[in-house]
Amino acid sequence: MNYQWITNNAFTQRYLSGEWRSPVFCDMVAKSLEGRHKPTILDIGCGNGFDGDEKLQASLAAKAAVVLGVEPDPTVELGSFFSNVYRCPLEEAPIAPNSVDVAYCNMVLEHVAQPQLFFKKLREVLKPGGIFWGFTVDSRHLFCKFSALMERTRIKDLYLTLLKGERGADRYLNYPTCYRANSPEQLEPFARDFHSIEFIRFHRSDVLNYYLPKAFIPLSELWNKSITPTQKPGYMLAIHLTK
Ligand SMILES: C[S@@+](CC[C@H](N)C(=O)[O-])C[C@H]1O[C@@H](n2cnc3c(N)ncnc32)[C@H](O)[C@@H]1O
Repeated sequence: MNYQWITNNAFTQRYLSGEWRSPVFCDMVAKSLEGRHKPTILDIGCGNGFDGDEKLQASLAAKAAVVLGVEPDPTVELGSFFSNVYRCPLEEAPIAPNSVDVAYCNMVLEHVAQPQLFFKKLREVLKPGGIFWGFTVDSRHLFCKFSALMERTRIKDLYLTLLKGERGADRYLNYPTCYRANSPEQLEPFARDFHSIEFIRFHRSDVLNYYLPKAFIPLSELWNKSITPTQKPGYMLAIHLTK
């Protein structure tokens, strides 16, 4: 396989020490902007913030000269800092070829129905040497298997609503999931034409606590703790591509 599998670096250490994932991921994107003159960035599936955090999203926008956003959900209100917004899937966005320095998407890849078209478009719009960051869940982790099962049996929304409250009001805006671009094995064929491919594993013991009733948390923590120091697939996966 033509990729690197990274389980330990300064960013995974920050996550492991208990830091919330979004500032860590934002810093990874920000690092890719260093040394680029008046860069153009592209937030794919930008939603209403980075992990719903508009301030974090704005902090990345502040580092760029041109800020492009792609968001197919017409009900989502977008930040005012975007230079241009495309209200469609990335695959259909009329973005100029070879125009983007750094593209990223947070919690989007699990929703992409046609990853081949998504990555074809991504490669087309990136400049040579341009970077892509994708932050998502790893489809090989038990979380995805349960999530996919609950979606197939149509109980996921009911479960989340009973546990966390109304979608968009009390809990995050969940979208239908496909899990077709969520592991190195799934992603490598789509990313093959890129100059380099890296995957970074993010994991720690409390990753599933948000999704579980209190009674199940100790068991989940025990199991997730046991796989934390290993090379096994974790809960979160970052993909880093260079065109
Ligand atoms: C879980 S939300 C994440 C939103 C935001 N990135 C965040 O961090 O909060 C998933 C987003 O992906 C968008 N999305 C799904 N498929 C997409 C595609 N093919 N191209 C662009 N965006 C897509 C959805 O409309 C939705 O806004």
